[in-house]
Order: sequence, then structure tokens, then C-alpha cells
Amino acid sequence: MNDKQVKFDDIVSLSKRRGIAFPSSDIYGGFQSTWDYGYLGTEMKRNIRDLWWKNVVQERENVFGIEAAIITNPSVWDASGHVSNFTDPLVDCLDCNGRFRADHIIDNTCPECGSKSNFTDERNFNLLFKTFVGPVEDNANVAYLRPETAQGMFVNFLNYQNTIRHKIPFGIAQIGKSFRNEITPGQFIFRTREFEQMEMEFFCRPEESVKFHEFWKNERYNWYIETLMIPKDKLRIRDHGKDELSHYSDATSDIEFNFPWGWGELEGIAHRGDFDLTAHSKGSGKKLNTLDTESNTHFVPHVIEPAVGVDRILFAILCSAYDVEEIADGEKRTLLHLPAAIAAVQIAILPLSKKEELKTIAQGIATVLRKSYRVEYDETQSIGKRYRRQDEIGTPYCITVDFDSLDDNSVTIRDRDTMKQERINITALETFFKNSLGT
Ligand code: GAP
Repeated sequence: MNDKQVKFDDIVSLSKRRGIAFPSSDIYGGFQSTWDYGYLGTEMKRNIRDLWWKNVVQERENVFGIEAAIITNPSVWDASGHVSNFTDPLVDCLDCNGRFRADHIIDNTCPECGSKSNFTDERNFNLLFKTFVGPVEDNANVAYLRPETAQGMFVNFLNYQNTIRHKIPFGIAQIGKSFRNEITPGQFIFRTREFEQMEMEFFCRPEESVKFHEFWKNERYNWYIETLMIPKDKLRIRDHGKDELSHYSDATSDIEFNFPWGWGELEGIAHRGDFDLTAHSKGSGKKLNTLDTESNTHFVPHVIEPAVGVDRILFAILCSAYDVEEIADGEKRTLLHLPAAIAAVQIAILPLSKKEELKTIAQGIATVLRKSYRVEYDETQSIGKRYRRQDEIGTPYCITVDFDSLDDNSVTIRDRDTMKQERINITALETFFKNSLGT
């Protein structure tokens, strides 16, 4: 096993051990690479969503949120091209009958049984999840679970143009679940059949589209570095070759992350041209265009789309934050160097003993700090074990209440990364965290 695999396994095992993610339907043996998020994973995903929403929607005057339905009129997916074109190339291994994405086969070798060059011809497999609406399971009642949130923005273009009181350029942004019947889901939460996307469709004049494509590439790349604190050397931007482009795309650039198995897509920033609005104009018979007030003519806006998965960001953050450090005499500690904005717990409050007088002080501090921060109170086990656990889940600060606290009204604050300890009066705690964590 090489270092990279060890790290991948370590992250999956830490996630299960500490409550970030568990195999879904665990007591039934799990189900097909699906995952349930535990109390830490749930909180971290919420933080990722909030940071994205703040950066992409709330801090801009020209991006507006939407929550569109997951199940839509099936005509949406006919017009968008997903019913006919949203496919991956599928092959079967003739030795073990395993099914694989043809573009994931390396050196003509079966990933399951290792046999060489013994595959069926490639055929296209459609990734849409089909269902039936209402009690009758026939063709007239077919519907699809959305494979991307994007179409909710396109089919609402006119509604937004009529209600937002803002002219082009503007964006419509959405966070929500998407579903794809992936041939080979896997690599933990990297590729799953049910996942959560954060997407924004930015509508602009055709002649400004290349400029805005560059603009959003930079905005999104910088967000990973400045807000999520992912080191630059773990990120790169890669432009798609013509043969890789999705059926709707004129040009796409991926922000890639160096995952434990190598570079992989974190986020795609696509130039979708006028593909979708033109397709839905044809499909619906409604004119999805906008008025150029100077020339008094109508034109179809072009679209730039940054699109990313919440689950994939969480995985990338875990990979970049994971660390094992030697602390003393061969003793090691595992820690997550999570940014405080992502950490599920920001401050852990740990009374040194379960004695009532220490608990009272510690719980009092927890009640005050909980109003502004994500706080965990823990009085079990030795203080060393509690520090190790907080390091593993990435808690930036621990506060220890000890017997001296009864006399000097002070507590010890321990920094996760440096392990430095600082004595501080309880009355100064709020100012300390205001300076170190914000709010
Ligand atoms: N609307 C454009 C679109 O959906 P995509 O590149 O297919 O483009 C965008 O998906 C992002 O969604 C990806 O960069 C990835 O972060 C996430 N994603 C896509 N498929 C996924 C899957 N099966 N599991 C987890 N995340 C996925």
C-alpha cells in the first residue's frame, strides 16, 4: 500500500469513527456507495453551503437565489438534451461480468478481476434516474430526478427577469440535491448517485461571455484559497479538451484538487453559450431572450456556470486538513487543520474533573459562548484523550476549567495547531474569541 492509499483509508476511517459520514443503511450492510452524514459531517456541510451562499449570492448585488423542484415536467429533460445525451460509455468484463465506465479503464485491465482486454463493445448508458408520478407506471407518467440543479434556473429565466428588477448581467444560484445513476460510484463521497450541488447560472451579453468566464474562474479559484484555506499547491485549473466537453458546453475549465489518488475535478466552470435558453425556447414555445434597449432588439443571453458538489468539497477539505504529527517520545496525534469557519466544533469546553463546582463554571461558559460559536461540552475521559479527540475532529480551541479557576476566575485556552496554552480570565473570553474567530 502506498502513502496515498493510506491517507484515503485513514480519512474514511476517521470519518466513520468520529461521526462525519457512515455507510447509508449501515445495519443492512450499506447500500451501493451511499452515505449518511453524522453530526460532524452535517455541521461541516452546512458551513460549506453557508460560505458558498454568502460569497456567491449575499455579497453580490447581481446574483439571486432560487429553490426549484427536484421533480419537474419531463419536457425539461427532453429539451435540455439529458434524455438523449446524458450518457457515459459502459463496458462489461466478459470474465467477471463487472460493469465499468469505459473511460475509467486503465491499460485495458478489468478493475475487478484484473483480466486483460476482455470487454464488450462500448455502449451508451443514460444516467437519468427515472420514476413515475402518480399511481400508474406507464410512459405517460415518467418523470426524472434532476441530474443537475441548473435546469431549474434556465426554466425560471423569464420569472426572474420579470421579478428581480435587475438587468443582464445577473446570476441565479441554487443549492440542492441532484441524482445520477452513475455506473461506478465510489471513492467515498467523491462520486455518489445522490449528491448535493451548488450551482450558479450567470446570464450575460454574448460579447461579454469570455470575459465573465475568466472572471468566474478567478473568483471561484480564489474562494478555495482565501475562504476554505486550501493550499495553492493542492489546486489547479485545467481546461477541457474539445473531446471532453459536455453536450451543452462551448468551453469548460475544471478547478482540480490533488486527491489521494491524484488530480480530480472539484468544480467545473462551463461556458454554456446560449444552448439551454435556446433549447427551452424551442421546447416550451416561450421566447427566453432579453431586450437590448439601445438597439431595441432581442438577444439570447449566454451563460457562465460555476458548478460544484458540497460532498466533494467536504472530501477535499478533509484531505487537505488531515495530518499526523509526532508530539513526544514517538507519541503521535492525528489532527484536522480545519479553518474555524468549517470546523463542526469551534470551541470545546472541558472541565478537568466532574466535580460540581468545576462543571458549574464550565457549563456557564458554554451557555454564553454557544450564542455565537459552535461549542461542545465534554466532561468524560482524561484531559489528554479529550484533547486528542478534539484534535481529530478539527476543533480550533479547547478551554479547560481546573481547580485554580475557582480562585482566579481564569481558564486555560489550548490552540489546536500549536498546542500552546494560555491562561485567560473568564470575563475576557468573549473578546478573545471575537478576535480569533470573529463574530
Ligand atoms: N450543471 C453542470 C454540472 O452538473 P458537472 O461537472 O457534471 O456539471 C458539477 O457537475 C459538480 O458536481 C462536479 O464538479 C462535482 O463537484 C459535483 N458532482 C458531479 N457528479 C457528482 C457525483 N456523482 N457525486 C458527487 N459529486 C458530483
